[in-house]
Parts: sequence; C-alpha cells; structure tokens
Amino acid sequence: MAEEENVKVAVRVRPFNKRENGRNAKLIVKMQKNSTMITNPSDANETKTFTFDHSYWSFDGCKENKDGYFEPDPSHKHGKQFADQNKVFNDLGRGILDNAWAGFNTSLFAYGQTGSGKSWSVFGYGVNKGIVPILAEELFKEIDAKKDSGATFEVKFSMLEIYNENVRDLLDPNGAKKKGGLKVRQHPKRGFYADGLKEVFVSSYDDINARLEEGTVNRTVASTNMNATSSRAHTISGIRFVQRAKNDAGKEMEKKALLNLVDLAGSERVESTGAQGDRLKEGASINQSLSSLGNVISALAKLSEGHSARVPYRDSVLTKLLQNALGGNSKTIMIAAISPADINYDESVSTLRYADRAKQIKTKAIVNEDPTEKLIRELKEENDRLKHAMKSGDISTEALQDMAGKEVLSKSEIDALKKEWLAEMKANMKANEKEAEDHKKTTEEKVSEQKSQDSEKESALQKVLEEKKSKPHFFNLNFDPQLSGRLVHIIQKSETEIGNQKGKESDICMVGPGVHETHAILRQDKKHHRVWIKQAEKDCRVLVNGDAITDEVELFHNDRLVFGSTQLWVFQNPKEKDSDKKKYPPITYEYAQEEIAAKAGVKVDSAGGGDVALLQEDLIDVMPAVEEANSISEELDKRVKFEIILISPQMLGKMQGTKAEGFTDMKSTVPEVCVKMKNLENGTEFIWPKEKFLNRLYLMKEMYNNYEEEDDWDLPEEKDPFQEDVNTDVNIGTVQVFLQPIAYMVEMKEQLEITDIKGNKIGVMNLEVAPCNKKGKEYTETDDMFVDSPEELVGKEVHFWFKIVNCRGLPNKYTDVHCKYRVYLDEQDITTDKISLTSNPDFNHKKMFSFTPATRQLIDYLNTGSIMVQIVGKQFIRKSAVAQRKQLTTKEMLKGDRGAFSKTANLMNGFQMNGRVVDPQKQSIVVELLLMKKTQARLQQRCDNMKKMLEKAEDLGRHGVSTRVIKSFFNAHTDEQIRAAVKQLEEEEDDEGYRSASPLSQNQQSSVCNLL
Ligand SMILES: Nc1ncnc2c1ncn2[C@@H]1O[C@H](COP(=O)(O)OP(=O)(O)OP(=O)(O)O)[C@@H](O)[C@H]1O
Ligand SMILES: [Mg+2]
Repeated sequence: MAEEENVKVAVRVRPFNKRENGRNAKLIVKMQKNSTMITNPSDANETKTFTFDHSYWSFDGCKENKDGYFEPDPSHKHGKQFADQNKVFNDLGRGILDNAWAGFNTSLFAYGQTGSGKSWSVFGYGVNKGIVPILAEELFKEIDAKKDSGATFEVKFSMLEIYNENVRDLLDPNGAKKKGGLKVRQHPKRGFYADGLKEVFVSSYDDINARLEEGTVNRTVASTNMNATSSRAHTISGIRFVQRAKNDAGKEMEKKALLNLVDLAGSERVESTGAQGDRLKEGASINQSLSSLGNVISALAKLSEGHSARVPYRDSVLTKLLQNALGGNSKTIMIAAISPADINYDESVSTLRYADRAKQIKTKAIVNEDPTEKLIRELKEENDRLKHAMKSGDISTEALQDMAGKEVLSKSEIDALKKEWLAEMKANMKANEKEAEDHKKTTEEKVSEQKSQDSEKESALQKVLEEKKSKPHFFNLNFDPQLSGRLVHIIQKSETEIGNQKGKESDICMVGPGVHETHAILRQDKKHHRVWIKQAEKDCRVLVNGDAITDEVELFHNDRLVFGSTQLWVFQNPKEKDSDKKKYPPITYEYAQEEIAAKAGVKVDSAGGGDVALLQEDLIDVMPAVEEANSISEELDKRVKFEIILISPQMLGKMQGTKAEGFTDMKSTVPEVCVKMKNLENGTEFIWPKEKFLNRLYLMKEMYNNYEEEDDWDLPEEKDPFQEDVNTDVNIGTVQVFLQPIAYMVEMKEQLEITDIKGNKIGVMNLEVAPCNKKGKEYTETDDMFVDSPEELVGKEVHFWFKIVNCRGLPNKYTDVHCKYRVYLDEQDITTDKISLTSNPDFNHKKMFSFTPATRQLIDYLNTGSIMVQIVGKQFIRKSAVAQRKQLTTKEMLKGDRGAFSKTANLMNGFQMNGRVVDPQKQSIVVELLLMKKTQARLQQRCDNMKKMLEKAEDLGRHGVSTRVIKSFFNAHTDEQIRAAVKQLEEEEDDEGYRSASPLSQNQQSSVCNLL
C-alpha cells in the first residue's frame, strides 16, 4: 500500500518590498512554466535554471481588489502568469486535503530567507489567506457536506514553535513560561513527538481560525516580552484528522491523517549572519535545527541516489519532529520562497539549491487505516508491554546506544540514559492511555468538553475586541509584520501603571531590557477621553514619537511609544479619532523606527541615491539594536558599551582603489555601518561589522532571557557574547600608498600620513617604492628608467621594492604592532615584524615584487591603484586603570552616555567626516607632484640638450643638422648619451643641402617642434 514518491517542490517569488524598492533593486528572477531562472547581478551571462514541480510568479501582474485581495490583473502582461493565493492553494493545498481524506500524512514546509514570503504562503495576511486557513475552511466545508454519511469526523489542532532548540506550545498560554519547553520523546510506533503538546478539538473553521490567532498572539508575547527574534523560530501547525466509519463487513474503521504545516525560520546563510569568523560561531548555533534540516535533506538525497548515508534526525528538535515528514510515512511538499531582487541573489540561489536537493528525496506514505477495535487492543497490549519493561528495567545496550547516537558509553551516561528511557516509557504510557480514553468518548462529548474549557478565554477575548472600539489602548509593533497589532492593552483606570512584573504586578506588564519595575504612569480623564503619560522615575526611558520625555505629556491617537529599548507600541484613542476627521497614516514597525532614527539625525532620503539610502537603512536597523545591547549590558552589568561608527571601506582594508579591471574603484566610498564595542573596564575597543554585532545581539538576548528566567545565565568569558578576546588584533591606522610612480618607473621616498578608523591623523609612515632590475638592484637617477607613458611597460618586465621603513608618532598603547598589506592579486597578507609599546616602531621591512611580463591589467593597477597598508596591534591593558574602574557598575560608567552614537562624534559630523574619508586625494597629489617634477625635469633636459646641440653646431659652423643627430640629442638622458650625440654631430658631414635653408629646413624645424 505504500506509495513511494518524491518530495514536491514549488518556488514562489514575491513582489519587491519597500526596502528593495527604495534601493532601486533589479529584478533577477524569471519564470517559464515550471522553470525558475536567476541571473547573477555581477555577471549578466551567468543564469542558473532550476526546474521544480511548480514555479509561482507573484512578483507582478496583479491588482488589489476592493477587499484588499491580490488577484491576477488580465490587463497586465504578466496577469496570466501571476499566482495568487488561491492558485497556490488549488495546486498544493487541494492535494493535501485529498491526501487527508485518503488517510495519508502530509507535510508542507516553507523555506527561504527572512522576509521572503514564507508566512505569506503558509498563513497569509488578512484576506490574502494562505494555505493553512484555506485548507481549514475547505476541510470543514467537506466535512459538513458528509455529515449525513454515517461517518464521524474529528479534527484536532496544535501549534508549536521551536526557538533555540526549545519547543514552546503556542496553544498553552503558560507554555512560553515553561523552562526548557516541551520534551521531545520517541514513541516506538509514532516516532518522535512533543510530550504534553496541547491538541484541541476544533469543529469549525472559526474554531481553527481562533486557534491560529491564539497561537500567533502567544508567539507575539514571546517575541515581545521574552525578547525573542521571531524570524529565528520555526512554527509547526498540526492538524490531525480522523474519520470513523463502518466498512462493508460492519466493522468500525479508523482512518487517520496528520498534516504538518511548517513555517521555517529565516534561512540566512552563516556568511550573511556574521557568525562566520566569529569565535562564537559554534556557540551561536545560529539555528541548529535549520542546519540539521539541511544535513538530513542532503543525507536523504544521497540515499535516494542509491548511496549509503546516516540520516542525522536526532541532531535537532526540528528534524526529530519531522522525521516522518522527511523520510517516512508522509507525502511532502516544500515551498521555496525567494526575493526577486539582485541584492538578495546569494540567499535566493542558496534557497534554490536547497530546494533542488529536497526534490530528490523520496518518502513512502501509507494509508493509515485500521479497525478501531484493533487500535484499542494494540494500545492496551503496548501499555502492558511498557509496564513490564519498566518493571524489569529491561533495556538493551543497543537501544541505549541508539538513543545516545554513539557506541561507547560511560557508566554515568548509561545511568542517565536509563533514566531518560524510564521517563520516556512513562510518557508513552500516558500518551497511550490518553488515546485509549479518547476512544471511549464520542466526538460530541469531546467537542463540548473543549468548548467549556475555552468559554472563559473566549469571553475575555470578546471583551477586549469590544472595548478596543471605544476605549484608549495600545497595540504592539513587531519586526515581523505577522506579529504586529496582535497584543492590545486597554487603558481602564484613571491611573494606570506600566512596569515589569518583577517586583509586583503592574496594571500593564512589559518585560524587556531597560524596563523598570515601575516604568511609566498613564493618567486618564475618562470624561474628556484624554490620556497623559509620564516616567515613573527619572531614568526610565519612554519615547513618544521618537522623543524622550522628561515631563508628563498628553498622548494623541496614533502616537508611537517606546518603553525601555524593545517595547514598541502605538497609542489608539478611538473617541479622539472619531471626533476629528484627520487622516491617520497606518503605523508600521519601519515607520516607528524611521521616526526614532530621524530624531537622532538619520533621515532616510531616497533622493540621496542608492548607496546613501542603503547606509541610512542600515543605520535604522542597527540603532535600536545598539540601544538594546546597551540596555542589556547595563542590566546584566556587563561593563561594555556599544556605539555605532561609520567607517569607509578603505579603512576596513576592503578596497585597493584602482580602475583596473576586476578591482573596485575606491572613489565610490560610502561608509559602512559598524559597531564599536568598548570594554568600559579595561578600555579596549573593538570594531565589529554590523552582521557580527547583530549575531552577537542574538546571543545577548539569549543570555538576557536566561537571566530573566533566573536560570544560570552567565557564561565563561570565551563564550560571553559581550566579550572579545583581548588578544585580537585591532586596526590602529591605515596608509594608502599610490603606486603610480612604478607605472612611470620612478622611485618614491615619502612620509605619508597614517589615519585611524575615524579618519584622524595619528602619525606618519616613512616608506619607499623603488623600481629595480630583476636582480633587485634599484635603478638610480643615472639609470633613468623613466617612461613617458605607463603603456610602454606592457609586455616588459617590471620589478620593484616596497619598503616600510618606520612609523612615527603612533599611540603607544599597543603591543605586537605590525603592518599588513596586499599587492595586486595577493590573496594573503604580507606582514612586517611585530614591535611593542613604542610610538616610533622601526620596521625596516622590504619586499621585492616581480611581474614578468607586466600585463595591461597590472599596469592599470599600478597606474591608478594603491596598496592599503594597515597598521594593527593588540591593545595594552593598564592594570591600575582597570582596578579603579572595577569599583563602578556599568550603569555608573555609562551615566549620561548611553547613546547609540559616540558623544564626541555627533553622527552627522561623523558621517561627513567619514564621508570625506581621509581624502585619498592628498596622497595621490604627493605622487602626482613627484611625477610632474620628473616630467618637468625631463622636458628641461631636452631643452638643454637642444641648446647644447645648437651651440655646438654654431661652433662647428654648421648650416644644418640631420634628423638622426637631433634625435640623439633629444633622447639623451645620461652624460654618456650626450657625449655620443656630440660625437655624432662632429663626425657628420656638413651637407650642401642644409645650406639652402637657414638655420634649419622647414621640414626639420617642424619635426623638432613635433618632437618637442
Ligand atoms: N506573494 C506576496 N504578495 C504580496 N506581498 C508579499 C508576498 N509574499 C510576501 N509578501 C510581503 O513580504 C513581507 C514578508 O513576507 P513574510 O512575512 O511572509 O516573510 P517570511 O518569509 O515569513 O519572513 P520571516 O522569516 O521573517 O518570518 C510581508 O510584509 C508580506 O506582506
Ligand atoms: Mg514568517
């Protein structure tokens, strides 16, 4: 009865989002029938084609109807191609439904980077319902139609979230608070399951919808109060569908289908999460479940090709729970959601590759149908067996090895495993008993039981919905648009207190970094429908429309509020809204963040052009994150402060500055957003790229959650996200050395400015660039290898020395100071010796570079490019200063300096300062001057030679000189060459022909002029 079939895969491309539009992103995805083509934005000739079961074009070709539903627009050229929610349901959801009726388990995954449209497909937004709600609606429609068939139907719904390898029951309001979440256990027949997961009876579409809403609200609570990053969570909605009917022989049969609908966490690759290269990447387990899923899929794909492979289901919670969906009794569908934009090319290709692997997997679904009586009997037998096994404590070594996933086990490991095994046995027995109990009740009984349990909750919800219409209230804003507006606080009393729940229960509880026990007070004039807010204490951070308040202020409809650093809310005053006819803009998370940023001096100005807009957007992303990190640091007394800093790509050593092909031109320098981590105790500072900081923040949040839950929260230094190894090399300064002299074969000895990461001059470097012959002998003035144009060097041998003599005036707080640089296509840094604790390190470093022959690309590089020499070192820690600061708390040390931007460098100043970037011109002028001098000298020499020739000719009483002789004088650079030219002139016969013209023939005159 088993049907083996491949995992079905569909790709869906969404429209541009606001960010992509703002950046003038380019469309790089095309679809034709079921093929998806994606073009590499940096190489238009590289297009990859992927073929799946379906390719859904949801990029354009639609219009919004009056209800807000996006439907195909027949007048648009892509109208026919446009895939709306119904089309996707009809292709994929319909099949799932049919499978459910036939008694097959089915699983649906949505995979893709954050914001790629996974939730849009799985759940949908508003009237644009996704697969889950439509499926539920259709299921109940069909059940209703079969009501009189004599069969009975049961639908159970569950919803869980996996965050940080913890399983959270989303239908259990206390689930979020349960430490460690639900246990995942293994049942001999059913496989892995989340022990204690609430499965509720639902008897209508409205029931399911209410449950979905409830689950989403619980996700929002977790995301808001537990400070979790929702896009790093996986959500699994489960629908268990049971049909009971008598067969022809009069025996009651039970047909069961389990539908798993999985909205996976954002699939950002490790490279783009900033975890790569960070020593904390292991600890970060960015998303252990997601990487295990990747491994499981790869292993299964190998198996399907006939290779042998171990499938590592046990490596993560997600893969355990989805074991059946992936490799067992299930029909499986995957939706790969991608962005249409060039800026997401890497992520989209990685998603498509993932999907390509998944489509090779084969699963074997069977119809789950048995006589009810047999099922009950088996449950009983199974429980007897379990009871017996438990009594005898009888478990084989193999079974233990299997549980542990390894062969060699120590005594203590065996004991622990036995304990776990016993707990599992107990849980399995309980699950069996519950199922047996279930069989004894009629469906009606179960539904009515469920209803009575829920009535209280439902009426509370109804009350809120009703009160929202007339009373002032707040709703939440969340980074994930699915979670915005899900939480509502009605302002009931004349005076309402907002605070975290640590000391006492406030009227409105908000938990998170920077929220105090009593944080803010709301005052309400009920009669006139007016509300005011004030801080409970002086250092409680409350922002109203982006401004920090210090006195009581009145709140108006649609005002944006921030409490602490992460609690973001919108105030609503329905009565006020009704009384004035103002038009209110819809408030989104981005809107509120942009407003806060604008107040700090960062405005998104799309007119500013692509790169600048991009920088501003990055700033808006990072600002609240830095605020949050500082709050957590303060609360956990981590003695660290974070600050945003803008750094030019040159300073980061990223650009060589050349117009040669294959290099990035340094003139397009928009600074990058980085975060400076300042260790307040020992004074060290480290610069983190934005991605690394955001990844660290994720770990900080995890630490904060553990602290909130009063778990053992602190970590050893090497795992602490707030720490950086003090032995890490930091950038002290940079020198940009233009190589143009080499392109003209001229030696350069210069003292160049060293600038630090902010663009301040911090010292000088003495260095030399000198052309030489292949043996390394430097050319001297007398060799005079100067060329009029670098072109002349193409195809010839070019050798030169690069020498870093010393640095002067460096800050002397560094040890192991050394320089590193790369030349041309070098893939590895060249480094100098290390020198410690001096302001004036003598490096005396020299290295010869040879290019035989020099290519045009190399000459272009020499002519227009530069070497970025980075001076790096370790920070020296003065123990006495540390001892002094040890007395202070983070809060005291941060006092008055909590801003996300350095106080000394106001952001916009910084921006301009860095925008100007050390003025690379300055250094190129040095070089140009050098070359001009050289050219000038050469011209002078030529004039002198001509003068000498004319004098000599006059001395000799000549009337004319041959072109040959003129040339010799013209090109003579050395004394020897001059002597040779003079000799030539002396030996030349005074031709009669010259006499007729005086002093030079017309012809020769012009040839000399031309030459000059
Ligand atoms: N097909 C579509 N048509 C219109 N808008 C879409 C579509 N797909 C996604 N969007 C929009 O793009 C945004 C991101 O989509 P969605 O929330 O589904 O992403 P996600 O992949 O679930 O992200 P996350 O990993 O953060 O949960 C939403 O604002 C959504 O409205
Ligand atoms: Mg989502």
